[in-house]
Amino acid sequence: MNPNRVLVLYDSKSGNTAKMANLVAEGAQRITGTEVRIRSIEEAKPEDVFWCDGLAVGSPTNLGLMSWRMKKFWDEVMCEHWMKLDGKIACAFSSAGAWGGGMEMACQSILTVLINFGFLTFGVTDYAAKGVTLHYGAVALREPREDSTQAACRLLGQRLAEWTAVFAHGRKEEHPDRKMGERMPAG
Ligand SMILES: Cc1cc2nc3c(=O)[nH]c(=O)nc-3n(C[C@H](O)[C@H](O)[C@H](O)COP(=O)(O)O)c2cc1C
Repeated sequence: MNPNRVLVLYDSKSGNTAKMANLVAEGAQRITGTEVRIRSIEEAKPEDVFWCDGLAVGSPTNLGLMSWRMKKFWDEVMCEHWMKLDGKIACAFSSAGAWGGGMEMACQSILTVLINFGFLTFGVTDYAAKGVTLHYGAVALREPREDSTQAACRLLGQRLAEWTAVFAHGRKEEHPDRKMGERMPAG
């Protein structure tokens, strides 16, 4: 079996998004045959992005958007690789200081940049726990402390690895529709 390759790329100034990144990585590892790389924005290289079948990009919510460090990575490090990354699968996650502080908009700002690079982006329709979903990506209030927030982060990574298994490796049995019994369709 070819390895299913997932990159979790994150920025984190005070550690909250980094904790989310570890949970997203755990979720991706639920899918058999998945190799996961976790890279902070300081250590990430274009080679990491080329390596993966799918990537999860996480940033603290800064003024309702991704951090300037994450934007700089795509503006300055990855820009010369534009038109060479189309078709990889991607998703977003963000930690914010307050509910209503713009964490979903920050996810959307990440997805906007990823769409510009030709990534195939997605949201998750399932509920991770009662009253908790991740339609635009996984979100957390500061650090991912609650079980439900942790479940959302893991589900994001799992769904990313499922989609890469299906679309990059033809592993149809990993399609979420085939696992309906394990999914939580309503909160
Ligand atoms: C420059 C700056 C801008 C911020 N803007 C927002 C914001 O718009 N909304 C919000 O809820 N929190 C905002 N915060 C708070 C952070 O999103 C929050 O502390 C987050 O958990 C930090 O994640 P990190 O530990 O991964 O750096 C901001 C923090 C900084 C430093």
